[in-house]
This record gives sequence, C-alpha cells and structure tokens, in this order.
Amino acid sequence: MTDTTPPIYLGLEGVYAAESKICKVDGTAGKLWYRGYPIEALAANSNFEETAYLLLYGKLPKRPELDAFTGQLKSNRDIPDNVKSIIKTSVGKAPPIDILRTAVSALSAEDKELTDSSPEANMRKTIKLIAKTTTIVAAIGRMQSGKDYVKPDNNLSHADNFLYMLSGSRQDKKAVKLIDLMFILHAEHSTNASTFASMVTASTLADIYASVTTGIATLKGPLHGGADEAALKMMRSIGDPSNTETYINDALAGKQKIMGFGHRVYKTYDPRAKILKAWLTDIDNIAAGDQKRLTQITLIAEKLMIDKLGQSHGIWPNIDFFAGPLYTWAGIPPELFTPIFGAARTVGWCAHILEYWEHNKLFRPLEIYTGPLDLEYVPIDKRK
Ligand code: SDX
Repeated sequence: MTDTTPPIYLGLEGVYAAESKICKVDGTAGKLWYRGYPIEALAANSNFEETAYLLLYGKLPKRPELDAFTGQLKSNRDIPDNVKSIIKTSVGKAPPIDILRTAVSALSAEDKELTDSSPEANMRKTIKLIAKTTTIVAAIGRMQSGKDYVKPDNNLSHADNFLYMLSGSRQDKKAVKLIDLMFILHAEHSTNASTFASMVTASTLADIYASVTTGIATLKGPLHGGADEAALKMMRSIGDPSNTETYINDALAGKQKIMGFGHRVYKTYDPRAKILKAWLTDIDNIAAGDQKRLTQITLIAEKLMIDKLGQSHGIWPNIDFFAGPLYTWAGIPPELFTPIFGAARTVGWCAHILEYWEHNKLFRPLEIYTGPLDLEYVPIDKRK
C-alpha cells in the first residue's frame, strides 16, 4: 500500500456514522443514557412501556400519553394466523432466533401500510413490531414445547403478559420485574452492529419490517446478541464452581474468547451488567442446587476475568454475561435469550430508523481494491 492509501478502519472501529439524540454510551466512564436519562434511573423507576415511549418520542410521557401508548401496544399484541402456522411448522427445525426473523418477515405481508412511508404510518408499524415481536418469542417458546398459542391478556403489562403467554400461567412478581428490567436494559444501545445494520437497510428506503428483519439477523451472532446463550453454554460446560478457574485459564491459554466479556465501546464495566450483577448476587444468596451452582460459577468467572483482563486489557463483563443465569432463574430456556434481546431491541432499531429517515442518506462505504486489473479474457477451451 502506498502512503496515499486512505486508512481503513476495520469493523468501522472509532468511525462516526450518524448524529443521534437517542442514546449516549460513555465507554471510558461506563455510563449509558437513554434520551438523557441515566440507565440506572430508568432501571430503578421506569418500566418497559414508559422506556419504549421515551426512546421513540424523546420525552417521558404524561399519564394520558403513556396510557394511550400502552393501549396501542396491547391492541397490537396478537399475531395473524399465517405467522402462528410459520412458528408451529418451524419449531424444532430452526433455532428460535431464525423463527423470529422469518415471522417478522411474514408479518409484513399482513400490514396494509407496508409501503406507506409517512411518519404516522411508520410509527404505527413500529408499535406493531414492538408488540408482536414479544408475542412471537412467547409463541415460539410455547409451541416448541408442543403447547398451544396463548392469546394475550390485555389486563397485564408487557413483561407480565410475555411470561403469561410463554408459560400459560401468571408468574410471580419478582420474575415479572426481572423480565421488565431485561426489556429496559436490552432496548437500546446506539449504533451497535444490529442497529447499524438495520439503519443500512433503512437508508435504501426499504420498509421498517425489512430493516428490523436485518436487525434480527445481525443480532444472532455470538459476538453480538448471541453471546448471552453462548455464555450460559460455557457455564453449563464448566458444570461445577470448582472447575471455573481451570476452565477460564485453559480457554484463555487457547486464545478462546470468553462470551459475555469485552465490548467495542465499554473499556470498563458495562453499566447494564452492573445492574444485572446486583440481581444475580441477590438470587445467589437464596439459590440452591443447580441455580446456586450456576450463580456461583458466574460470580467466580466474573472475578477471575476481571483480575486477568479487566484493568490490563479493558475486557470487562458486558450485559450478555449475567443475562443467561438470570433468565434461567426466571425459567426461560437458553434458546430464547437472544430472541428476547431482539424483541426488546426492536425499540432501539425502530427509534434509530425513524430518526435516520428524518435526514436519510444511503450508506455506501468504499473499499480499497487490491486485486488485478484489465486481465485478458481467455475462452474456456483455451484455458490451461
Ligand atoms: C453486545 O456494540 C454494542 O453496543 C453491543 C451490545 C448492545 O447492547 O447492542 O452491547 C451487546 O453485543 C455485547 C457484546 C457481546 N459479545 C460477547 O460477549 C462476545 C465476546 N466478546 C468479544 O468477542 C469482543 O469483546 C467483542 C466482539 C464484543 C468486541 O470485540 P472488538 O472490539 O472487535 O475487539 P477484538 O475482538 O479485536 O478484541 C481485542 C483483543 C483481542 O486480543 P488480541 O487478538 O488483540 O490479542 O481483546 C481480546 C481479543 O482476543 N478479547 C477477548 C475477549 N474480547 C476481546 N479475549 C477473551 N475473551 C473475550 N471476551
């Protein structure tokens, strides 16, 4: 490469692609704000519906605004029969995150406003997507255990209804509170890979269903949203707390990445992970049997990794590390962790898409061509 070759930023590390008022991530200080509100304040005082409103409309709702928004979500929870049959025929064959992706694509066929790109229609489609992706995840969890679809109960909150549709019965308040917190913490995180990918799709003026489908497809990877399931898989293979140190040492010696640690932006503790760790420590104090082993492995691995790679390498726990053990405590199977992440992140994907469309510009980066030029075409019979 000559010295006039422009620099390439692998993975677009450190490159700014847009301006936004939705979310600030301070990777050095380990701080996160949604529309200017610290994540700790929202985690302690808000709920998913209010946080979703905040992310989409840019302000905390007054009571009538929240009631209207919650009512719109509720009236859009149910899913069409074609989507139910896709789920029913796909469970057991495709991973739940793939079924979620396919189901969202199928949803678009039912939306008469698909090609209406007015802000009003796009907000209506956003609300449908937020409501229905959560229902789809519950339906997948239900149908993969051979049980029938449970219709939404509109007397229940978003998180409470999700657990009800997943399990077929009302769950205890603490589990509902945890799931509501998970939806809040997973709702948004600036231009992470899946949000950026959905923005790229949206920048071509493809519709919001197509853009959210891109987001789901991108979230699946273990370097991104798939890390929560991968981290729990690692904890299961450790098996017993007494094996944790050997496992971590061997994995690092073999240059393996420990899922749930490290982050492109956070070079200190992910503030969301800190909130989840407090929940896990609480649960560890009362857990027994398998759950106790799991929480112990988690807490031992966290301390080991911080000692080994925290200060020295800027590799700290991220949100995906504690999510798995907590979902397990709430009775959620591992294959639903990333789909739940996707249902929550539907808010962030849509918020960034709607904001980007206000001043749309097609994403089309360059690459430096390093291959040959002007080769002579040789007919196939003459090729050696
Ligand atoms: C999410 O971006 C977001 O905002 C994402 C997210 C969101 O809310 O949307 O926060 C959600 O995706 C969180 C991240 C979940 N992924 C994981 O937990 C997977 C494990 N983590 C790594 O793969 C990694 O940390 C990334 C992918 C998250 C970030 O990687 P980068 O910024 O591309 O850095 P890198 O892979 O080049 O790592 C730099 C060095 C490497 O060592 P060297 O090759 O330079 O010797 O750090 C090492 C890596 O090997 N490293 C790790 C590690 N993460 C990085 N080593 C061991 N274990 C790890 N987890």
